[in-house]
Amino acid sequence: MCGIIGVVGRGDETLDVVLDGLSTLEYRGYDSAGVALSTPGLDVQKRAGELENLRDAIDAGETAPAGSVGIGHTRWSTHGPPTDANAHPHVDESGGVAVVHNGIIENYQALRDELASEGVTFDSDTDTEVVPHLVSRALGDGLDPEAAVRNALDRIEGSYAIAVVLADEERVFAARNDSPLVLGVGEDATYLGSDVPAFLEHTRDVVYLDDGEFAVLDPDGWRVTDADGTPVEKSVTTVDWSAEQTGKSGYDHFMLKEINEQPTALRQGLSGRLDELAGRVTVDQLDGLSTPGRIQFVACGTSYHAALFGVEALRSAGIPAQAFLASEYATGPAPVTDDTLVVGVTQSGETADTLSALREADARGAETLALTNVVDSTAARECDHVLYIRSGPEIGVAATKTFSSQLVALSLFTAELAERDGADSRELVAALRDLPNHLQHVLDESNAEAVVDEYLGSESYFFIGRGSAYPVALEGALKFKEITYEHAEGFAAGELKHGTLALVTDETPVFAVVTGDDERARKTIGNVKEVEARDAPVVAVTDGASDVERYADAVLSVPETHPRTAPVLANAQLQLVAYHMANRLGRSIDRPRNLAKSVTVE
Ligand code: F6R
Repeated sequence: MCGIIGVVGRGDETLDVVLDGLSTLEYRGYDSAGVALSTPGLDVQKRAGELENLRDAIDAGETAPAGSVGIGHTRWSTHGPPTDANAHPHVDESGGVAVVHNGIIENYQALRDELASEGVTFDSDTDTEVVPHLVSRALGDGLDPEAAVRNALDRIEGSYAIAVVLADEERVFAARNDSPLVLGVGEDATYLGSDVPAFLEHTRDVVYLDDGEFAVLDPDGWRVTDADGTPVEKSVTTVDWSAEQTGKSGYDHFMLKEINEQPTALRQGLSGRLDELAGRVTVDQLDGLSTPGRIQFVACGTSYHAALFGVEALRSAGIPAQAFLASEYATGPAPVTDDTLVVGVTQSGETADTLSALREADARGAETLALTNVVDSTAARECDHVLYIRSGPEIGVAATKTFSSQLVALSLFTAELAERDGADSRELVAALRDLPNHLQHVLDESNAEAVVDEYLGSESYFFIGRGSAYPVALEGALKFKEITYEHAEGFAAGELKHGTLALVTDETPVFAVVTGDDERARKTIGNVKEVEARDAPVVAVTDGASDVERYADAVLSVPETHPRTAPVLANAQLQLVAYHMANRLGRSIDRPRNLAKSVTVE
């Protein structure tokens, strides 16, 4: 996730405060960084890559940024690759307005076209750059600085946490909509951060901004108004965080933080991609994709489970699809026809097995698409097409939010292709719109920790599901074994009786994923009864649509929703089961033994 820091009132120390703030935001992951300092004038420095590159550029520069007001940013690419030009802050043509931004401006293309038609030249590929140009135009129309910033904000749609500084202006303007922003209240200075750690070493007194609020930081302190300029009374709270916790925003582990970031990650992944009025999806990145006759997925591990979900979604829409383990694809026969699209599902975009499979697919004459989280990753660069899942960086080795974002992106991908054939996406669009809130509800209400306490120390743990609950069962088991080091297996529910049932005893809890009340759900309930008859404790992950609860010893509930979105909710419960079990066992949750975040060997 991108990070923001801002400060007013630290005089000559401004640059150090901003750079140190950026250092503490490094844990969020980033691929470029920059600073802007005002009064006198406005100095901007930004660099692709590590923060060290920015520090080196500043140390080497004839004009090290100076000033008593500053903002800084660490960028995680969503529009355009990580280059110096795409790094924030972005400035207007006069160099007098500098802007940093987290989030996505959905109507940026229309604004960019409008500004370009007026002769504005753009320096970057980013959505953010429209903002300084809009502020500049409003200043040119005679508005004062605060009104000009408000005027620009009125024009943009989407999610944002934004900070703006102007040349010779001893103020920082800030606003938020669907992206966190918090003020830090010091004795003689005021700070701004996308996250408290950005300024925690200076103050623990904070003011959390709410959506639609606008803040002005100046040498006298701070004030907050609503979007119309009406003052809002905000309370100052004191946070009580240890330094050890700060990089994790108060969570004990990155994995738990990332599980809880999922509603935000999904909002980002859906941003600008749902046309609720028309009941259609609008995935610009798929515009140039010809309609494939059939689809082959190549992927590994968790991403392979997402690919299995993709197969189920596409086949339900009448589109032929298969999933291959990437490590098997590259060296095995996989018939490719003229109209085959090969989709590499890879959050990192750097997994060697998946890259090999994609290269092999290309050599076999297939069109290729990378479904990835990392802008400009190898898969993104090498494939004919790319669809970004926009999860934000994931630090924990065990994939959590990227898996959910992959499922959402695959639902969008399927709907886009199905709509080309006249399918109606209305119900799916409504379900996707509601998904982040449903997921928040699951995370807030989950009893996974109590369920874990009940079954701690069991012999083995089994996970079963049918249809799109099958990849959830596989993923539930993978996450569990990966971080608990306990034996776990995932199965298609109907497969258990073909061998593994021999292992089922009262020492082997079975997690059964049963959402909806269709034939598959009913058949899975039959399989639940089989394990119950062998005394296995049953934990049902269910939306309550069927009567599976009658046969369960414990229930992990999810809201009732669409068949394409239910797996995301059920999976969140199983993520929490794995997390709490690993925590009880004292495992190294963020860095499980023997595993790496990105596997770059075959
Ligand atoms: C498990 C996990 C791995 C990855 C796999 C592929 O939590 O993260 O199974 O899914 O190594 O990685 P990507 O998606 O980067 O290709």
